[in-house]
Amino acid sequence: MSYDLNGKHVLVSGASTGIGAALAEGFARRGATVGICARRAELLDEVAGRCREHAPGSRAWTIDLADLDALPEFARTVSDELGGVDVLVNNAGIPKRKTVFALDTPTIESVMLINFFSPVRLTTALLPEIVERTGRFVFVSSVAARLSPPGEAAYAASKAAISAWAECMQVDLRDTGVKVHVVYPGVIDTELFHLPDNDPGPTAIEALPVDAIVDPVLTMIEHDRFELAVPEWFGDIFAGKYKDVGAFLEGTIAYARSQEASN
Ligand SMILES: NC(=O)c1ccc[n+]([C@@H]2O[C@H](COP(=O)([O-])OP(=O)(O)OC[C@H]3O[C@@H](n4cnc5c(N)ncnc54)[C@H](OP(=O)(O)O)[C@@H]3O)[C@@H](O)[C@H]2O)c1
Repeated sequence: MSYDLNGKHVLVSGASTGIGAALAEGFARRGATVGICARRAELLDEVAGRCREHAPGSRAWTIDLADLDALPEFARTVSDELGGVDVLVNNAGIPKRKTVFALDTPTIESVMLINFFSPVRLTTALLPEIVERTGRFVFVSSVAARLSPPGEAAYAASKAAISAWAECMQVDLRDTGVKVHVVYPGVIDTELFHLPDNDPGPTAIEALPVDAIVDPVLTMIEHDRFELAVPEWFGDIFAGKYKDVGAFLEGTIAYARSQEASN
């Protein structure tokens, strides 16, 4: 193991539900003090309570991460109240499953705001401190960033943007000892697939329970692995795509037609 999470201070965004909540508890079970944030205070309190069973200093803050100008001050507050931040997990995200015919400009901008601009602002706010502590940055992207799924242009573009940011950031941080990680969840059973104002989610792939992502992500960080798809077989599909992107898109179009026929 190269990075021991025990005793570290970890901030997880979007941890009121789903992957963020499960990861927060996972970090706490590893002995990390966990800070969590999102908009829904009651849910955050429940998650923070479960984290405190393992890591008593864990705590929660309510914040709307769409408010970019509030993020530097929020980062200072978290750092002061948590006693520093070693690991930032940029997990908060929103879908917007709509075809390009239905995506208007405000919708596209709202997706980029939460899935790209907000994690980047939080990252740059915490960068000096995490570099000083030789910490870790984790970005929760999506298989959509690499698989060009039907009806997800805004979402996939926002996730491709954050993946590219993370890759370049690791190169820029080459002399610091800091590691950057990117997670590519496939289909994990969370609220993401039940939010209003979205087309139906994919039906061809069976959703994994949220706990299935926790140990692989923690192990990725502990062993300095740059990226991880969950389930891992998505990694083989990524590799196959770049041999012939046109042929890959033909396959995706056939998949989209089969989805239409089954709806
Ligand atoms: N589930 C999957 O299969 C899957 C696949 C690929 C990628 N992902 C990615 O995994 C991450 C977690 O998603 P999830 O599946 O766990 O979905 P989720 O249960 O809907 O969790 C999303 C989290 O983001 C928070 N959030 C959303 N907008 C926010 C805002 N404006 N301010 C603060 N917090 C905000 C939500 O909290 P509040 O509503 O309380 O603010 C919630 O805690 C996302 O980045 C998602 O894109 C998920």
